Parts: sequence; structure tokens; C-alpha cells
Amino acid sequence: MTLGTPLTSVATRALLLGSGELGKEITIELQRLGVEVIACDKYANAPAMQVAHRAHVFNMLDGQALRAVVEQEKPSLIIPEVEAIATRTLVELEQEGYRVIPTANAAFLTMNREAIRRLAAEELGLPTARYRFADTYEEFVQAVEEIGIPCVVKPIMSSSGHGQTTIKEDPSLDEGLRIKDERLNSSDSESLETKVISPSSYVLHPSSIVDHAWTESQKGGRAGAGRVIVEGFVDFDYEITLLTVRCAASDKGLRTQDERLNSSVDEGTKIKDERLNSSDSDTLETKVISPSSFILHPSSPAHTIFLEPVGHHQVDGDYRESWQPQAMSPVAKQKAQEIAKKITDALGGYGIFGVEMFVKGDEVIFSEVSPRPHDTGMVTMISQDLSEFALHARAVLGLPIPEVRFFGPSASKAIVVEGDTDKVVFSGLEKALSVPGVQLRLFGKPEVHGHRRFGVLLATADTVEHALEKVEEAYRYVDEGIRTQD
Ligand SMILES: Nc1ncnc2c1ncn2[C@@H]1O[C@H](COP(=O)(O)OP(=O)(O)OP(=O)(O)O)[C@@H](O)[C@H]1O
Ligand SMILES: [Mg+2]
Repeated sequence: MTLGTPLTSVATRALLLGSGELGKEITIELQRLGVEVIACDKYANAPAMQVAHRAHVFNMLDGQALRAVVEQEKPSLIIPEVEAIATRTLVELEQEGYRVIPTANAAFLTMNREAIRRLAAEELGLPTARYRFADTYEEFVQAVEEIGIPCVVKPIMSSSGHGQTTIKEDPSLDEGLRIKDERLNSSDSESLETKVISPSSYVLHPSSIVDHAWTESQKGGRAGAGRVIVEGFVDFDYEITLLTVRCAASDKGLRTQDERLNSSVDEGTKIKDERLNSSDSDTLETKVISPSSFILHPSSPAHTIFLEPVGHHQVDGDYRESWQPQAMSPVAKQKAQEIAKKITDALGGYGIFGVEMFVKGDEVIFSEVSPRPHDTGMVTMISQDLSEFALHARAVLGLPIPEVRFFGPSASKAIVVEGDTDKVVFSGLEKALSVPGVQLRLFGKPEVHGHRRFGVLLATADTVEHALEKVEEAYRYVDEGIRTQD
């Protein structure tokens, strides 16, 4: 592989689709290797655009607009940083010879909860929460009854918790259940417990939380109203992101067990590929986009690296704190790595993946996967010699990664700003950065309407608990000093 010089005819150009805080760090890491980076997003002055060589502002869900930018820039690499992209166009562009990271099919499958869930559970046999899909209100009610309460409802196309609701039996929380509660109060207390948790005894009421969940899911989906997934609520001890890198094998001639495993995957890929080549192009499109007949992507043998597991805490489907390493039993850690290996091999290509899993005791349940750096993985900006962004840059360029140095217990805390302004000002930073071992990143986002992540605090310490205490302390100073008024 070769790398050119930016802004010349021999430049290695990367087109970044999505220009948030993760894209900003990817851009910086690519530029450290002399890559010319073109940042794209639907709004101007997005974080990555502020550090990229140039930018394009357009709706990335618009396939024609996306194609026009790709044909204009002729990038060596197309690097998706978000889910909301016209992934069918990416599939076409890949067939025309463009390189999509990690693969166009991976971008397509992971943008759709149904596609990735069917791949994980039905094709690969990975353990997942129980699930049903529903297109209409009637199907939805049926799905909730089949899965049972508590359950989690999500649009199949959404991220960061948009449109997601948990239906649970908490009488203090909602009217529908209070009504049920009143009814229950007249019955004897022994049967209360059973009635509350049994799905069939759940009372549907126009204002109940079930209706609320449906309404939210129809508002919160990326593609508007439509299909939802109803998942059994997993009562996990903790949840992790297992950052998993697929990269070129190093030149040292060492053939690891991972690579041997991968070569067998590549065989399967070839067979499926031949099948595709023999079919006409119409059925190809169907095959590529149908989740049940996904294709494994042809890829060079890859070396797989697992980083230390990242633990995290979510509020409303959005991450607030993450830490590394998350302590796990050896059995659970082994299972998590096996799951991550299977799903990342199926998606193929080079790059980093964030494999999200729930853990209870020694049991590990697959949740979802991002074929790109993960927000909870921002902690690696302080915990490792190569952050998840540096690893992604190296992997997508086809460069080897023989070693990743983990520095020890670390934590991150998102700085979430609430308000309605394009003039956010931070103070309190002197105090925050007086906490030893703390670092700060401010993303430079241009405005907030509602709540939005504007920065992250990072810390290392002798234990994860202490690292978390440090980011909490620093956060209090930053939070007190946020100004969202003119
Ligand atoms: N079946 C479930 N049982 C218990 N908790 C769940 C379940 N599904 C989701 N959650 C909780 O909600 C969080 C967000 O869910 P999920 O990752 O599926 O949504 P998302 O919108 O893709 O979020 P993101 O884009 O931030 O990863 C999870 O990290 C977990 O804390
Ligand atoms: Mg998630």
C-alpha cells in the first residue's frame, strides 16, 4: 500500500460521511498519516469539517446527492461515520470499484436493526434478547404481548436512543398502569406481583405507556413512521462495548490463530460471491439488500484485535459515562470475544467495530454493532497509545497493528448541553483541568436545540472508580460554567 501527499494529484483521499466528534478524531488521525480528508454532513461547520481539508454539506440519505459528491471527489476511501447514509448507493458505488469502510454491506446491515438482528440471531446463531417486528399498531400490541413486559421498543432505523421506550411495570410512572393498579388494588395483594409482570394481564388503555411507546417509535425513526422492533428487556449486570479491530496482518510473518480462522471465513465468502456473480444484476440488488440473504463480503485475510472491554452507562439510550477496562469473568470475556469475532467476520473489511453486548454473570448477549468507532470508545483517547480513531485510520489504510498499549484504568464523561442557542460558552475549565489526570475535548458544535453532546472529559487513575470520580468532579465545574444565553 502507498500513501500520497494531500492536495496534489497523488493524494490519498478519504471521504468522511458524517462529521461529528468521532469524525473529527478520525480526520485528525488520517491527517497525521498525510491523508487528504473531505468531510461531509447535513450541516455546515460540523466538528470534522473544522479540521478537514474541505467539506460538502448535503443530505447523506439522498443517494443522488451522495453519488454526485463521490464522483466529484473520487476518493480512495469512503468512510461512514454515522448510520444515516444512503447505504444502497454505497453498495452500488462499491460494485463500481469504490472502497467503502469496512464494507458497503456492513454499512447497509448495521443501519437497520432488523437486518443486523436477523444476521446475528438467525444466520450466526448469536444469543440476543427475544424480539419481534411490527409494522402496525395491531402487530405492535401483539408483539408486546408475545415478548412480555418489561420490553424495549425501537424504530428499526434510529440511533442514540431516538424513538426508544421501555415498557415496564412501574405503577408510579404512568397513567395506564395506574389504572391497572387501581383495578389490582381491589384484588388481593398476593396476585398483584403475577398480574403486574404477566403480559397477558397488561391493560391496554388509550393513554397507556404501550400507546406512548408506539407513538414515540413512530416519531423517532429516521425514516419516519414504520417498522419497530420489540425486544425483551435484558436485566443485565452491566453492558459493554467490545472494540474489535480487523486489520491487515503484520509483515512479521506471524500467522495467528485469528488469521487461520479468518481464512476459512474467506472461503465461505468466495462461494457466496460466485453465487452472486452468476445471477443477474436485478436479483443481485435484492440479495444485497435483503437481510435474510445477506452476503459475506470478500475480504483479505484479517488480523483481529480485541481491546479491553469498555463499560458504560446510558441515559435515554445515550451514553453518559464510559470506563475501561470493565471487569469481566474470564468466561464472559471469552464469550464476548467469540461473539465479536463472529459478527465482525460476517461484516468483513478493515476497520474498528463497536460490538455492544449485555452481560449477566457468565452470560453474554449480543445487542448491536457499529462498523466504525463508537462513542463509548472515546475513553481510548486517554487509555491507550492508539485511540480507537488512530486504530481505525491505520486499519482502513491497510496498515498493520502489531501492538496496542493499554495504559490502565480510565473513564470518560460526556458534556451534554441543554438549551436553544448558537452561542455556547464554557467556563469553569480552570477548575476542571486542575483535577490531576483529567483531559478535555470540546467538539466545537455550532448550536444546540434541546440537548446535545458538546464535549467529553477523560481521566486515568489507579482504579476505574477513581477515574470515574475524577471525571465527575471535573464535570461539576464544567457543568456549572456552561452559558447558553446571549
Ligand atoms: N433489550 C434491552 N434490554 C435492556 N436494555 C436495553 C435493551 N435494548 C437497549 N437497551 C438499553 O438502551 C441502550 C440503547 O439501545 P441501543 O443501543 O439498541 O439503541 P441505539 O439507539 O442504537 O443507541 P446508540 O446509537 O447510542 O448505540 C442500550 O445501550 C441499553 O442500555
Ligand atoms: Mg447502541
